[in-house]
Amino acid sequence: MTMNKNKIKIGVVGLGTVGSGVINLLEKNKAEIEKRSGFSIEVTCVSAANKDKKRDCDVSNLKFYNNPLEMIELEDIDIIVELMGGESLAKDIVLKALEKKIHVVTANKALIALHGNEISKIAENNKCDVAYEASVAGAVPIIKVIRESLNANIIHWIAGIINGTTNYILTEMLKSKKSFGEVLKEAQALGYAEADPAFDVGGIDAAHKLTILSSISFGIPLNFNAIYIEGIEDIELVDLNYAKELGYAIKHLAIGRKNATGIELRVHPCLIPKSRLLANVDGVKNAVVVSSDAAGPTLYYGAGAGSLATASSVVSDIIDISRKIIFKSNASVPLLGYQVDDLKEQNILDIKEVESRYYLRIRVTNRPGVLAEITKIFGSKSISIESILQKEDLISDKFVPIVLVTHTVIEKNIFDALIDIEKLDVVKGKIVKIRIEELDS
Ligand code: HSE
Repeated sequence: MTMNKNKIKIGVVGLGTVGSGVINLLEKNKAEIEKRSGFSIEVTCVSAANKDKKRDCDVSNLKFYNNPLEMIELEDIDIIVELMGGESLAKDIVLKALEKKIHVVTANKALIALHGNEISKIAENNKCDVAYEASVAGAVPIIKVIRESLNANIIHWIAGIINGTTNYILTEMLKSKKSFGEVLKEAQALGYAEADPAFDVGGIDAAHKLTILSSISFGIPLNFNAIYIEGIEDIELVDLNYAKELGYAIKHLAIGRKNATGIELRVHPCLIPKSRLLANVDGVKNAVVVSSDAAGPTLYYGAGAGSLATASSVVSDIIDISRKIIFKSNASVPLLGYQVDDLKEQNILDIKEVESRYYLRIRVTNRPGVLAEITKIFGSKSISIESILQKEDLISDKFVPIVLVTHTVIEKNIFDALIDIEKLDVVKGKIVKIRIEELDS
């Protein structure tokens, strides 16, 4: 095939951590990228709110726009790289680019999770690509793996640590015995956290990413609202310690699982056996396990955030699209991994229909008969207790913590039982409930 041109012109919108990383990486590895691809990629224009802001990349020789829509209108570019984040303006930028038949690369998980169905159709109508590898798990090429490398498989389940900030916080709390607040500040200083860190600790960021992963794994339209979300705000150091004692690590997981009655889509803290690889993914690192019929379980691990790490995925998308432009190819992987007409709504299970084992921490009055009162309620809801742990040394007042591990039970029964148990006079405060995931089948 003959080349049509050998230079690709890029416009970058957003010059924060990732935008700077992309400018720097294209510059730093220019020769290597050319040797691998056979063509050159040149950033010709950039857009950000403030031209004079001190930043980590040099854009003094590039045409600068305050208004990205104006840049798209006026500049002759092949690919627009949207790295400003947020939803509203980012969506306008992407739609305007597609309208002008300009391909798009983005790292914007909220944009894809919330507007990807619409963007996918418009991209297809305009015969343009929208690539978004950096939107999930930073440097880890999980979108490419699921859409391309595992495309001969039926995917049964995916489970991942896909928010580096929560993983960093849980890891550091246990390691340094620091408070949740202190560790969150460190994560923000390191540039891992979202502009609104509530998106990280509350599970929204992971849910955006799971929305994307579940769509490309199971062939369902993007549906953020179907995801059950819990953050890590209620996890205390004491739970991390108890979990460790029981042979588990507590991780904030995003899980998509297809079973006989529907698909589970959930983001919440979990106890995972310490022997699982995911249980040993620490700090800001991300990891995703994909379990599929032919390949079996496969694991993908790496940096989930960071300037050059995320830029690695963005630039890879730029190179993929550039190759298509250069070689005038129409062969695209569908945006959501399935032909648009083959994306089908499926039954998404309510969290109360999900089955799991549970770790429960209950604060109770320390007197005979208390456990009997509690276990009677569990018995009435067909909940069987696997083990009980009571640590006298942790008594801080007249209440003592009891830790119970249940056998597998449907969530509805646990939910109902805990309402009744919390009403008992001998029980103080809210019961801590964390699901246990074996991740073995
Ligand atoms: N806030 C995100 C995280 C950044 O902590 O993983 C990468 O999406």
